[in-house]
Amino acid sequence: MVKEAEQITDDVAELVASAHRVAVLTGAGISAESGVPTFREAQTGLWERFSAEDLATVEAFENDPALVWTWYRWRQSLIQAVEPNPGHSALADWQAQLRARQGELSIVTQNVDDLHERAGAEVLGHLHGSIFTHRCVECAEPAELPAPQYNGFEPPSDSEQPPACLACAHGVLRPNVVWFGEMLPAEAFEDASAAIRSADLVLVVGTSGIVQPAASLPLLAMERRTPLVEVNPEPTELTEVMDYSLRGPSGTLLAQMVQASR
Ligand code: OAD
Repeated sequence: MVKEAEQITDDVAELVASAHRVAVLTGAGISAESGVPTFREAQTGLWERFSAEDLATVEAFENDPALVWTWYRWRQSLIQAVEPNPGHSALADWQAQLRARQGELSIVTQNVDDLHERAGAEVLGHLHGSIFTHRCVECAEPAELPAPQYNGFEPPSDSEQPPACLACAHGVLRPNVVWFGEMLPAEAFEDASAAIRSADLVLVVGTSGIVQPAASLPLLAMERRTPLVEVNPEPTELTEVMDYSLRGPSGTLLAQMVQASR
């Protein structure tokens, strides 16, 4: 039976204080307080008629490469223009603390941003890839691109075509993210599963728990009866498998947890 609270409770503080190996699955919600919209928020500008999920498919890219390419390049600009928030910093601090005691805090993220890293944390796996790297749709050769020049805070009025691949001259470039229907990077998923299996506490932060297979990872903890704690202002698809569901923003709640871990 899940216990819900708006602040970290004594039970959760005890779990945090005694945890030596912590695994954390993060989603778009942890970056929301930095100003990166989550996937299920309404879009503006060129993409007003689309949900973020409509744009995250191979079919969408094939139907309108410029629309999808511009969305990812613009989102890349937005991510570059914002800063990590106290939630990212709390996880980085907690990771450093546990490592100093020969423990570990493993971060597995569905986010394609680099805000965990910029807060000073090491990320074990980016399950859905990275928005900062690109590859050819035909030959898969990685390609380096200059940073996009959009104002990340205002959607552009025109879209741009994806550049041609200079390696094979047949394909165009696409972002190195995982789209719906595509396989997750196997190593990241295996590392994530291993970290969750060996954890003595698992946190699920800022994810709606809708997108598989990432959303199945917390079930590995449930099978082993490892304590599971959710941090999210709203109930999610995963709430019912949690031991505790902390209802609030990750910036505040993760900062409280790091305090309790000291
Ligand atoms: P979603 O947009 O589905 O969910 C974001 C979650 O963050 C929601 O449950 C919100 O309640 C929560 N949230 C909002 N503000 C928060 C805050 N300040 N602190 C904590 N939580 C907050 O994002 P994801 O679950 O990450 O995949 O979505 C999963 C995947 O679906 C994404 O990686 C992406 C998307 O389509 C692909 O593109 C393949």
